[in-house]
Amino acid sequence: MNTSIGIGVLGAGTVGGTLITRLVEDRAAIAAKTGLDLRVLRVGVRDLGKERSFSLEYGSVTGDLQSIVDDPDIDLVVELMGGRELAGDLVLAALEAGKPVVTANKELVASRGPELIAAAERSGVPLLFEAAVGGGIPIIRPLSETLAGEPIDRVLGIVNGTTNFILTRMADDGADYADALAEAQELGYAEPDPTADVSGADAAAKAAILASLAFGTWVGIDDVYHEGIETLSPIDMAFAADFGYVVKLVGIAERTGGGVSTRVHPVMIPTAHPLASIRGATNAIFIEGPSVGELLFAGPGAGGDPTATAVLGDVIDAARETLAGAQVSSRIRFSPGELVPFGDVPTKWYLRLEVDDQPGVLAQVASAFGDAGVSIKSVWQEGEGSEALLLIVTHRAPEAAQRAAVDHLRKVKPLRNVASIIRVESEEP
Ligand code: NAP
Ligand code: HSE
Repeated sequence: MNTSIGIGVLGAGTVGGTLITRLVEDRAAIAAKTGLDLRVLRVGVRDLGKERSFSLEYGSVTGDLQSIVDDPDIDLVVELMGGRELAGDLVLAALEAGKPVVTANKELVASRGPELIAAAERSGVPLLFEAAVGGGIPIIRPLSETLAGEPIDRVLGIVNGTTNFILTRMADDGADYADALAEAQELGYAEPDPTADVSGADAAAKAAILASLAFGTWVGIDDVYHEGIETLSPIDMAFAADFGYVVKLVGIAERTGGGVSTRVHPVMIPTAHPLASIRGATNAIFIEGPSVGELLFAGPGAGGDPTATAVLGDVIDAARETLAGAQVSSRIRFSPGELVPFGDVPTKWYLRLEVDDQPGVLAQVASAFGDAGVSIKSVWQEGEGSEALLLIVTHRAPEAAQRAAVDHLRKVKPLRNVASIIRVESEEP
């Protein structure tokens, strides 16, 4: 029986370079374990002059990526270049040519998922993307296969290692945001341009994929509201700790108001919650379902080695399907469903207000919330005179009402600044 699979890899950077090295160096071990002879035949890159961590036959590395997809000796394409347009067109071409595709590209899956899944379905080949969310954490298969019959209620994910590292440093050591970010960059967690990490955009793509798989309703990257961590201050971390909370950047996907809401923003999580103990660059995904209860998947969410492990698992899976020769039916299906606008979603807020400490301030602040239909749960004052801080935690109210309350607040004269707003995750209303 032929067990040989010719592999073309598009992209040989952090993940691609590690994957190729593993496929080359561990070829015999993988064959012994799986019965598959996985041969990297061609690799596509942008810069042919760059030094690579792997060695392949002369001429295997090319700048002509389309020629890899078109090569009849390539049975399986692995896309590890990133981006939506070129990567998406190459993936689509591979699928249309009847070649299975493995990708780690969350941006691509979260933006062109249905188009690519439909192409895979038409050709009867697998499209696998285990590494697109949570790096080395197995989460795509559990959601789309093991939990396929569970009517999942909610998924909460710490799905960006860079931001979790920064928030951990701010909470534990009082580091300020800029210093913690610089450290994350030095340690190689953050990209040289960390905008997608710190703005929540990277987590939004991952949350879109998690939501789509959890609820079977397509949620695209542009359907996900996102806020980043750029304006958070160590003082809020300290107040959160005083109140029994930890601040995390969380992707939330939940059934609410007859539809699905997906968003990414900083959240105060009770210290007893399983996600509160996820520290440093670790990622974790917490799933709630009526029958299965609560599940936590945690581990390394980024980096060449863990991510390449997930990609390699997909390559082996796709190779097995290819050798079996049967038409593969997609394990993922989307049915129409309503996406609930964030404004309609009930949220609970913590606010740090800088105010002049004078008679009547509290009454004006309270009526700003009252006028917007938001009920206040607790108020603390820290400091006095021109240094006074009011810390307010509201009861749950529609996000739009919370925002209206802040619009009213800004008209309160003794209020100098709405210094911070963080949503609160809590069992209480
Ligand atoms: P990377 O280090 O920037 O590598 C990208 C690779 O693609 C490079 O080899 C680059 O070529 C090549 N490439 C990019 N654009 C190209 C173009 N237009 N034409 C030809 N080659 C091109 O990226 P990475 O960190 O490995 O990430 C790859 C994918 O995995 C992304 O979708 C990312 O989101 C995903 N991912 C990454 C991680 C992680 O920890 N890094 C974790 C999970 C998922 P050159 O080498 O010549 O520049
Ligand atoms: N930059 C991402 C993170 C890794 O910090 O988690 C790739 O998804």
